[in-house]
Amino acid sequence: MVASRLIGRGPLLNPLQRWIWGNPVRRAHILLRFAEVEADSGRDVTRAAELTPDPKLRRLFLRHARDEHRHAEMFRRRGSELLRAQGNGADSGWRPDWLAPGERGLDDVRVEPGSDAPLLAFLHLSEATATHRFATYRRAVANDEETRTLFELVLKDEEFHRTYSRHELARIAPRHQTWLLGKARLTRLWHAYMRFAVAFAGIIAAVLLTLQYFILLPPFAWAARRGARREPKGWRAAAPQARDLRAQY
Ligand SMILES: [Fe+2]
Ligand SMILES: [Fe+2]
Repeated sequence: MVASRLIGRGPLLNPLQRWIWGNPVRRAHILLRFAEVEADSGRDVTRAAELTPDPKLRRLFLRHARDEHRHAEMFRRRGSELLRAQGNGADSGWRPDWLAPGERGLDDVRVEPGSDAPLLAFLHLSEATATHRFATYRRAVANDEETRTLFELVLKDEEFHRTYSRHELARIAPRHQTWLLGKARLTRLWHAYMRFAVAFAGIIAAVLLTLQYFILLPPFAWAARRGARREPKGWRAAAPQARDLRAQY
């Protein structure tokens, strides 16, 4: 979480975001990925609305879910427009998805009955991160007016999600709110570490396989070529036992 915030907000790293968002095809693919994440998030919050016994929270969760579904639709529409404008088959180049993760919603947490307070703590932190990220992406797409407007609209909703989740946490768990936020922070940190570890393991595996290819394979290729050179050229007479017509060959 800390690293992704730095990536999103650090003045030195903003040029990186501008580069990521600068390619319209890459931009389109990122927006389409955001659409999937937002739709997922909407489904999780709808489930939270179904499970909560608190009528006020249910109403807020339902509004939140509607917002996320709307965001998904907006991202999908804009992503498709950009792709159509560039023509089918246009190359997006390298796509470092981990540098523009968008909104994660509740993808790291299980929505279960009786878990409103931990859910709100997690939601609040997740929406706060999404707000920072979308503000960075809005700056990065300054030259694309339609995408910038889209981020502006989404940002207003994310800001609302961030504030209502904090107020509701204070309302339903006034004495445990600090502890719940701390626990949610640690959980998010742990999940971020796990995501990093998986990505890092993938890089190490790719490096090791490439090294194996260049270090272990050449001796075998050399031996095979040497063996092929020793083989006599052209046709050879078959061994006498192979001429037995009662045998299969
Ligand atoms: Fe959203
Ligand atoms: Fe949100």
